[in-house]
Amino acid sequence: MGKGLKAFATAPGKIILVGEHFVVHGESAIVMAINRYVTVMVEGRSDEVIHISSDLGISGQYNKDRFHGPKDHQKTLDPIKISIQSVLEALRENKGLDVHISSTIPVAVGLGSSGALAVTTVAAVGRYFNHEFQAEELLKLSLKAERYVHINPSGVDQAISTYGGIIIYNKKTGFTRLEAPSPIPIVIGNTGIERNTGRLVDQVRKLKQKYPQTVDLIFQSAGELALQAIDALQQSNITSLGNLMNINHGLLMAIGVSHEALDRLVHIAKQNGALGAKLTGAGGGGCMIALVTQEQSDQIAEKLQLGGATSIIAEKVNTGVRSWISE
Ligand code: MEV
Repeated sequence: MGKGLKAFATAPGKIILVGEHFVVHGESAIVMAINRYVTVMVEGRSDEVIHISSDLGISGQYNKDRFHGPKDHQKTLDPIKISIQSVLEALRENKGLDVHISSTIPVAVGLGSSGALAVTTVAAVGRYFNHEFQAEELLKLSLKAERYVHINPSGVDQAISTYGGIIIYNKKTGFTRLEAPSPIPIVIGNTGIERNTGRLVDQVRKLKQKYPQTVDLIFQSAGELALQAIDALQQSNITSLGNLMNINHGLLMAIGVSHEALDRLVHIAKQNGALGAKLTGAGGGGCMIALVTQEQSDQIAEKLQLGGATSIIAEKVNTGVRSWISE
């Protein structure tokens, strides 16, 4: 394939409606794809160098395994290189590539930017070599990069970026698509506080190890909660879903992954009539979500802004990753 051909892939970010952290240890989570995207473009090179750049100004290149570029960019670029390498190995290719990333998903705040990036990179590199991965293979390859970010990922972020829509995700049983009969209006409040998913996942693991009798009960409770939230969604019982989200936030606070900025935004959302509110993603900063009625969404978004957040009115998207070729 000659230079000039460009392969693209795009995939959505996500919010977790219920079940983050608990999903790492085998409980179910419900997750929804949102209208924020990572897009990756791949072009061929005449050498064997892998060059990666992004709209955020982060760039560097790998000659074999040697990194050349600003040292502080390497930590961000290494997982992307892992995704690219995993495809080259799977397809037995050995070609230099220019890989460019653009994204509308805020980074490191719980909206699935790294999961979407891994899925998109795998799909775009595959597409460059004229190969469209089946979903399962795509998930397997994109999880390799997530394991670099944290050693025990549940796979939920990669799954939702692959499939889109709303899914129930369980590490043991895989994914089930959930067709919610009515819209689920969500407002996201972003504290802007970046945090490290791996560290938070590890913190929970240690807490579970230290106080197994107590913490295991919280996990069981979260498992039950997810089942009730699935029922609530299937019956369009938005009030019940809101109540369950509130309880879910309490459970996440109990395992130590909230943050005062998140608790404040959750409080603001509820005070202004949200049906439910909770942190979303790994916590420790990052984003919270509020379940609202359609009429309330602008007003609650404004209140969250006044409370110091950047707010986004989330729209569900039904399509997961897509890839294509352009001359
Ligand atoms: C991150 O979006 C969700 C966590 O449950 C981690 C994971 O599932 O891998 C915190």
